[in-house]
Amino acid sequence: MDDHVYQKLLKCYEAIESRIPFTPKVALVLGSGLGGFADEIEEDSEILYRDIPGFPVSTVPGHEGKFIFGHVGSVPVVCMKGRVHYYEGYDITDVVLPARLMHLMGAEILFLTNAAGGINRNFTAGDFMLIRDQISSFVPSPLIGPNPDALGERFPDMSRIYDPVLCDVIRQAAAGLDITLQEGVYLQFTGPAYESPAEVRMAGILGADAVGMSTAVEAVAARHMNMRVCGISFISNAAAGLLGPDQTLSHEEVKARADEAAPYFNALVRESIKRMGEA
Ligand code: HPA
Repeated sequence: MDDHVYQKLLKCYEAIESRIPFTPKVALVLGSGLGGFADEIEEDSEILYRDIPGFPVSTVPGHEGKFIFGHVGSVPVVCMKGRVHYYEGYDITDVVLPARLMHLMGAEILFLTNAAGGINRNFTAGDFMLIRDQISSFVPSPLIGPNPDALGERFPDMSRIYDPVLCDVIRQAAAGLDITLQEGVYLQFTGPAYESPAEVRMAGILGADAVGMSTAVEAVAARHMNMRVCGISFISNAAAGLLGPDQTLSHEEVKARADEAAPYFNALVRESIKRMGEA
């Protein structure tokens, strides 16, 4: 069978191989409105997504597209400033191509971040949630199609997607900074529309604490390759309907809340990555 997904990945890798300055330990994905963390990185070099042939380029305002190579403390990092989403119309295999590419760069850890709507009623807008597990059943699996055996096995285990040691690292980082850290299950819908109140109620019944439009498929692709995965959701808003019939949602609001939380988010991610040097 045609393994064009893997061939495309290799082409992307070959196009940038000579520009990768070092082997990163942590691959960090910055979510909507959270790209400001990039300024915290002691930067070595950048690769623009648009300079990589075939690489999916984001169309969403607020999602700049580039890989940044640098250090956080002494930890070598490759950071994605901007990611692509399934709702932009890309094949789901293109959505996870960047995560796969960072694995080929040598990254051991995939650190995923996103903005999400809070479903758990104990959460408030502005909270951070450590992702403990996920529901990806509402989006296509990125592993459908011929299995790229070079990356991983046909039927990968998803019993512990989020690495317990890395979860502890993030918990300790939050405690050290006096930042409250909620915990829970992230559910990915396709978007781009925000959920209806009935969909939010459904997601809650299914066990989700937060809902968003990214992350879960990347985590599945990363575990397929046996990367260690961890993630933080920034709860930018209460999910639709939770605040009553007059509640509305907008991307502007999500970005504004993310801007307000940026100093705390940046500190939490910086401290977590520093501690991942030993994890
Ligand atoms: N739903 C889905 N995605 C989101 C939300 C939401 O409420 N907030 C930020 N991203």
